[in-house]
Amino acid sequence: MANRKFIVGNWKMNGLRSALGDIGGIAKIAEQNSGVDVAICPPATLIASAAAEFPDVAIGAQDCHQASSGAHTGCLSSDMIKEAGASLSILGHSERRADQHETDADVKAKAEAVRSAGLGAIICVGETEEERDAGSAVSVVCGQLSGSFPEGADGDWLTIAYEPVWAIGTGRVPEASDVEEMHAAIRSKLGELMADGSENVRILYGGSMNGGNAAELLAVPNVDGGLVGGASLSAEKFGPIIEAAA
Ligand code: G3P
Repeated sequence: MANRKFIVGNWKMNGLRSALGDIGGIAKIAEQNSGVDVAICPPATLIASAAAEFPDVAIGAQDCHQASSGAHTGCLSSDMIKEAGASLSILGHSERRADQHETDADVKAKAEAVRSAGLGAIICVGETEEERDAGSAVSVVCGQLSGSFPEGADGDWLTIAYEPVWAIGTGRVPEASDVEEMHAAIRSKLGELMADGSENVRILYGGSMNGGNAAELLAVPNVDGGLVGGASLSAEKFGPIIEAAA
């Protein structure tokens, strides 16, 4: 049986308090499309207010430290994001893998930390343009997936997001056949990594998804939803993607 679609907005480093109204607008559209799971991951500064003001939409974080507490200046633990109102966290986004030098081992430890706090995890994987051109996209992505894969994985709390780095924020989207090939490879790798239940782990596509291309991308086999950046920043742009998943 097909998984329920999951549409997640990653606001990255965008949004002051004045943007809370946009989360309200998105929450309303999510409510009208109850067959779709929707989450918004605003900057950490907005998690508590968004969760308090809009309890009917899932609010997530964009990162979480693997340690439960300690000398990690500027970082947030899984208990902290949970207390603020997050129910999940994006982990291992390619921007963090590049800018903060996060490794697969870091991402695995972070996923295990959010799991221990009872939160969901969205682990991101994706190849660079050079890796795709070299014909190694599938092996790179499957390698990241194996290296980042947490103990005790289960579709109830774990989601994978395939985000080709070259498609993020560029307006470029892979051919549907390439998305299909990669999501099938991820599904098959999940089958190797998990004793059972691998079909319940949702695999999202991310990278320049918008209201115009969402329906086609979401119809690809093994695409269980989308991880959306720029087009998630307003209800006007995000709404059509949620509706395309309904
Ligand atoms: O995590 C979402 C992402 O990296 C895609 O961003 O702006 O291309 O939708 P965007």
